[in-house]
Amino acid sequence: MPDDIRQTLIARAMAARARAYAPYSNYRVGAALLADSGTIYDGVNVENAVYPVGLCAERTALVKAVSEGERRFEAIAVATHNGGSPCGLCRQFLAEFGTALQVISVGADGRRITWKLGELLPHAFTGSDIPGGSRA
Ligand code: THU
Repeated sequence: MPDDIRQTLIARAMAARARAYAPYSNYRVGAALLADSGTIYDGVNVENAVYPVGLCAERTALVKAVSEGERRFEAIAVATHNGGSPCGLCRQFLAEFGTALQVISVGADGRRITWKLGELLPHAFTGSDIPGGSRA
């Protein structure tokens, strides 16, 4: 991925983070997902008074993108206070569309770590594990 696009993706995730709705945990997360089309979809965590109902930023971004017809993705940047990596649910949710996805975690200080999704979720369960199942 060209460095200017990587920088844009990180900047978008950090800007999105300011829009997180996290009144319960106060752990604000912003995500920016780059589709193969070149479009970037932002997402934030959206918490709820019934705690388990809340949604992570990564899944918000993916839901927005898939709803717009996107199926192929290159990278996701995730901005948090401390550079935390995506949770297990989000790893599985993202893996539906391919484990070659680049995952970039960035902290408020700008420090970042990059993985392939397949490194974060080795031996992922996918549609090909379901007899007759198919993937995007
Ligand atoms: N959260 C995310 O948005 N993404 C992650 O990968 C980790 C956790 C959110 C969920 C919840 O709103 C808050 O961070 C604390 O767990």
